[in-house]
Amino acid sequence: MQEDSLNVVQDWLDYDQSLISTIGEKYYKNNGIEVYSNKQGTPIPNEITNSYPHAYSLVKVLKEFINHNNPEDTLKVLDAGSGSGIFARHFLLAARDENILDRVEVLLADYSKTALENIKKKNMLKEFVENKNYKLLHLDLFNLDGCTTVTGENYKLENLSLVVLNYIYDVLPMIVLRPSIDSETTYEKLQFKILGNIESQSQSINLNSLFIEDRWQAYNIEEQNDLQKKYYSLLEPGKTNHIGQIFYSYGSLAVTEGLISRLNEDGFIYVAEMPHHSVYKTCFQVYGNSIAHFVNLDLISKFIHNNNLSSLVTQDALLQHAFYFRNPKILKSLDEILQKVFVDSSLTDLYADLRQCLSVIISPHSKELNKFLLDKLLSIDPYSCFSYMARANYHQRCKESQLAEEMYNKALKIDYLNDFS
Ligand SMILES: C[S@@+](CC[C@H](N)C(=O)[O-])C[C@H]1O[C@@H](n2cnc3c(N)ncnc32)[C@H](O)[C@@H]1O
Repeated sequence: MQEDSLNVVQDWLDYDQSLISTIGEKYYKNNGIEVYSNKQGTPIPNEITNSYPHAYSLVKVLKEFINHNNPEDTLKVLDAGSGSGIFARHFLLAARDENILDRVEVLLADYSKTALENIKKKNMLKEFVENKNYKLLHLDLFNLDGCTTVTGENYKLENLSLVVLNYIYDVLPMIVLRPSIDSETTYEKLQFKILGNIESQSQSINLNSLFIEDRWQAYNIEEQNDLQKKYYSLLEPGKTNHIGQIFYSYGSLAVTEGLISRLNEDGFIYVAEMPHHSVYKTCFQVYGNSIAHFVNLDLISKFIHNNNLSSLVTQDALLQHAFYFRNPKILKSLDEILQKVFVDSSLTDLYADLRQCLSVIISPHSKELNKFLLDKLLSIDPYSCFSYMARANYHQRCKESQLAEEMYNKALKIDYLNDFS
């Protein structure tokens, strides 16, 4: 494309105000669970966070929490930013498998009404009872008091035992800073100017068709929004990441602080995020028509400790996992199971590897290898659409066409993102 045929779509703005950061909101709100489907170009990553092994790992921790604390009430588990609803489905299935289904109620909450409607329309939680095993809530994480049920009644978010934030921090506002060249204690902020071949402002904008120019400007905290001012003292001059930047995840800090206030005394928060491995030289990745920024979990841990709460943070190949506890005694009582399930092993990594291995088998002569991998997969993922498809492929390879068709039909019944139909 000719540079001179481009027009300015948006003039210089801070990272968090720029279209790059703001475009995702409309995308999630308009497109509902379609954004997770691989039929729509690059989907929003969801296979790992939404997998049964991921949900099962967390249920194991919650079961230990129940055994240890013997709470009397039903435990409220808030799936904040529930997206496609597949995590909640797997969480409920895992709770049923671990015999704690009657002890939990999962609150699926999202600011995308479309996603919530999709979950209902597709009857994705049909094995479970609405308002007993689960509830659908319309919620903006920056306005916890405004939470309502899908039919519009106010819902008081309180007494939460567990809050799950799967890939949520990466869509909350942040600003990108770097130390100033002439002083260790002052910063510069990243700004973008957006160019594109767009004729009218009403035209829908596709992130991949935009050209981004960047520049660094002096960062004066007095001119920034209230949330940036509120958490500014957490920043440590000179403490940059491997690309020499500081991701000031102020939106994640604000949402975490808000959610902590809705936990009951023994409640805790679980976060799953994408790691910022050294191969990534950027502050964000584009998925669908949205971005996911890398997140500064160190900053959030610092906030947690400054407030006398405790945390456990661990990382495997695909996810960073963080647990934040209101009551330090609860971390102590769960430490053994957390080490076992999240630190010393990772069902999500194993699941991802098995998916990869199964997808590269091509030969009908590799039946034994296929069976070995399939059995491993089924031992950690008995219910997903992917696992039924893997069974169908195996039976196909063994020329057992009736069984293959049976499995294929089962897969289609739970192919809520319609990736396989
Ligand atoms: C990257 S997706 C993750 C979805 C799901 N948790 C998963 O792991 O697949 C982010 C989700 O957060 C929701 N979301 C983003 N900002 C939100 C906000 N301020 N309040 C509530 N939901 C929000 C989006 O609608 C979307 O469903």
